[in-house]
Amino acid sequence: MTTQSVEGVGDRGAGRPSRPKVVLLSPPGDLGQIVLRSLSGLNARTLLVCEPRSSIRMSAHVSGTLLAAENVFDNGLAIAQALEEEHRRDPIDIVLSSSVRGLSVLGRIRNQISPPVYPMADEALLARLNDKWRFASVCAECNVPTPRTLRFASASELDVAALTRSIGFPCVFKPTNASGGDGVKVVRNETELVKAVADNARFVSDGFLVQEFREGVDVGLSVFAVNGEIRNWSTFQCDGYWSTRFCEVPDLLDAGRRIVSQTKFTGVANFDARRNPNNGELAVLECNPRFFRRVSAARINGLDFVAAGLASLGLAPRQPSFLTTGRHLSASDVASWSGLRMMAREGYSLASLGRDFAEFLRDPAPGIGSFANEWLHLAADKVRLKPSISG
Ligand SMILES: Nc1ncnc2c1ncn2[C@@H]1O[C@H](COP(=O)(O)OP(=O)(O)O)[C@@H](O)[C@H]1O
Ligand SMILES: [Mg+2]
Repeated sequence: MTTQSVEGVGDRGAGRPSRPKVVLLSPPGDLGQIVLRSLSGLNARTLLVCEPRSSIRMSAHVSGTLLAAENVFDNGLAIAQALEEEHRRDPIDIVLSSSVRGLSVLGRIRNQISPPVYPMADEALLARLNDKWRFASVCAECNVPTPRTLRFASASELDVAALTRSIGFPCVFKPTNASGGDGVKVVRNETELVKAVADNARFVSDGFLVQEFREGVDVGLSVFAVNGEIRNWSTFQCDGYWSTRFCEVPDLLDAGRRIVSQTKFTGVANFDARRNPNNGELAVLECNPRFFRRVSAARINGLDFVAAGLASLGLAPRQPSFLTTGRHLSASDVASWSGLRMMAREGYSLASLGRDFAEFLRDPAPGIGSFANEWLHLAADKVRLKPSISG
């Protein structure tokens, strides 16, 4: 199989705006900064809808703020009105969001607004895919393997006898609706499980899952799809701490195609899975039906998922249809033994890190703002700046 399609790269559609005007809905703690970097590379003029103290407002890639208000994402009507007024004054080319929360608001107001919306799924499907327990039933419908899982609505419902019978130890405790590893814990016995439930009470308002532990390595699939058909995809192995080795993972791609087709999914999504290297078995863990952290890793290796959706509306150059080669080294790995081993033996180099660093230097303020926020949060136990990147 050939490694990477270059179909459409450099394609300049007739009538495409040289500086598309974009509105980005960026709720606190989402991946807005990653989306902004792509938009900046596409020469977009980006206006923000966010909370007043959101650190993303400090970004050099932002042209202005359309609306900044406390709890603005609870007020879809105000967002719709601001979009309509701005669109009448100077037309907006596209509205998009960098998280499920922003997408849900956008889904609710999309029939009330005139500007085009980045291709996305409706609120009900987003909620179904984003919930790890409900997603497991989507997988079952599509004959996609997942780890054996039990759900408990609250700590008092934890039934250790049932769990020992059907899953056993070690097992994995996880909230149904958190992300970025928050609250996920491998536990070896009942004592550790009870402690994990108690320690993570803040993540488990929607209940929690206890899942069979699957030995192996993490692999992933990222997609941009329209009406159940994948238009652009990448598959990869996760190395170290957030480093990425793009490679072929045909059975995960196949599983993703079945899920996307069955749900008639539209939009961007990332699927996490686990591969057992001893017997080759794959288990799909979760779906994030939104922009994801590895958008930057894919972009640096030639496939920009933000641009893929814009291209489907004629607002950006078409993107390669798939990406299965290339490496991206994370900043965290460069300072570790595993990072050095990856550079010595696994084809990682400092090249992608150099590009990340150059991007950071071009726009350091939001990153520093997020860091300052975390520091202030730890020091004063109260939030003064809201982070733009956390999950
Ligand atoms: N059943 C499992 N067996 C082994 N490892 C798991 C299992 N579930 C999760 N993990 C590990 O924990 C990580 C985070 O879990 P995931 O379900 O993707 O939740 P999230 O990314 O939303 O925190 C996974 O990428 C994987 O490394
Ligand atoms: Mg995950």
